[in-house]
Amino acid sequence: MEWFKVFSAGVLTSEDFIRAVEVSGKKLCIVKSDDKFYALSNRCPHAGAELSKGWCSAGHIICSYHRHKFDLETGRGAAGQNN
Ligand code: FES
Repeated sequence: MEWFKVFSAGVLTSEDFIRAVEVSGKKLCIVKSDDKFYALSNRCPHAGAELSKGWCSAGHIICSYHRHKFDLETGRGAAGQNN
């Protein structure tokens, strides 16, 4: 496993955030929510919008384009979204 530094240490103590980063050519969305960090593809599985432009609520990231929800822990889409 190779490690990549994407933020300075100061980010660890900051408030919750959603940020887009690029690591080795991969576009990722880094989320800090409720003192946990998540790294996921920045491409929404529904139609490809940037998840980093969305927001978090109740353990989910919500895509700003069609407002589909994805569980931050499992990546699964909410019931009834067909993704
Ligand atoms: S592109 Fe994200 S919900 Fe449709």
